[in-house]
Amino acid sequence: MTLKNKKILIIIGGGIAAYKSLDLIRLLKKNHVEVRTILTKSGREFVTPLSLSTLTKSKTFENIFDSESEAEIDHIALSRWADIILVIPTTANFMSKLSLGKAEDLATTVLLAADKDIILVPAMNVRMWLHKATQSNLKILQDFGYLFIGPEKGEMACGEFGEGKMSSPRQIFSYLKNYFDKKNIVKERNLKALVTAGPTREYIDPIRYISNESSGKQGYEIAIALSKLGIKTTLITGPSKLAPPKGIKVKKIISADEMLNEVKKTLPVDLAVCTAAVADFKPAEKSKNKIKKKKLNFKSINFIKNSDILDFLSKNNRNRPQIVAGFSAETKNVIKNSTQKMKDKNCDLIFANDVSKKEIGFNSDFNKVSMIDQKGNIKILPKNKKSFIANKIAQILLDKLFDDRNIN
Ligand code: PMT
Repeated sequence: MTLKNKKILIIIGGGIAAYKSLDLIRLLKKNHVEVRTILTKSGREFVTPLSLSTLTKSKTFENIFDSESEAEIDHIALSRWADIILVIPTTANFMSKLSLGKAEDLATTVLLAADKDIILVPAMNVRMWLHKATQSNLKILQDFGYLFIGPEKGEMACGEFGEGKMSSPRQIFSYLKNYFDKKNIVKERNLKALVTAGPTREYIDPIRYISNESSGKQGYEIAIALSKLGIKTTLITGPSKLAPPKGIKVKKIISADEMLNEVKKTLPVDLAVCTAAVADFKPAEKSKNKIKKKKLNFKSINFIKNSDILDFLSKNNRNRPQIVAGFSAETKNVIKNSTQKMKDKNCDLIFANDVSKKEIGFNSDFNKVSMIDQKGNIKILPKNKKSFIANKIAQILLDKLFDDRNIN
């Protein structure tokens, strides 16, 4: 049982649904989960520290300035202790505080200091949930990497009907079981991924080169997202100003040939994602010395084709990653051209982006992609931060890997 001996820190927020946290704790304890709780000031209006401590068989933490609690386990250690942190119920006010990065009490301080996944379980009136302020906070929090369970549609404590009802303890329990099952499988099977990112440079002479505007942002974010899922990830990147992400093996290259070489050395992997904007051509010859202005003949630089890395990965019989995903940068007929590209290169999925638009694609912090698969299914990931798109893509790729291997 994957939940056995897991450590879950539950923060109880101030809403009527707080009483359901007691049922969840009972369910978790029955499954041998270690539970600790933080009770917020408003949460105390709905459940008591005594009922929480009775169920968890442990102290209920309430106050950041409580010297006894801090001596027992300080707020940083409390967040390090947990395998995962849950906020149940998450109110509109709490979402607003988190989106501002507040650290005004024990709960918000622990969350700001946390290095584990944090799951928010919203519960509020439908109007509050749909309010632009809450929806905008939701986007910010998703971008920060918070995970969400619900809310569901249904009748609320206030008598109104709609989206905002908290997921049931059973639903939360199933989510947690699924979350830890997947983490275990990723670890047990030692899943590995490679991601290509950034531009390549194809030199004409020692100082002049052909390249493009790729910043590496989309690829770096995908590598980070895959690594967060527990997948051992290698990032093979062309020149980029971005700092190497922590916990990820980074291989820096300059040209397409070097990128291909590093890709070959990194195999075998289970997943490969090619986000790099690899130059399709390179100068047929590279001058050893700087070409003198007088000798430069701008009318004709001879180009030859670079090897296609995505094509190599997809058609590599000996070491083909189980899933090979490409990106497609197009300025018109985006879906048609990208579908053709996927078929020609034989990758499993292609993520098409329209790079004619300045606000997405090359160098922007945002992207909008259409995911196309071999069956012709198209799923649009609407415009959002590249980090958000990356988390979605990482989850899609992991789910596909599990589906293909029949892992439930
Ligand atoms: O780096 P950012 O600033 O964040 O921008 C992100 C991005 C726009 C670069 C990214 O989202 C993107 O679209 N990447 C693919 C860019 C590209 O080269 O597309 P393409 O349509 O030319 O190539 C199709 C696929 O083949 C890509 O997966 C590419 O990595 C791969 N390819 C292309 C040529 C080649 N020689 N080898 C390859 O592997």
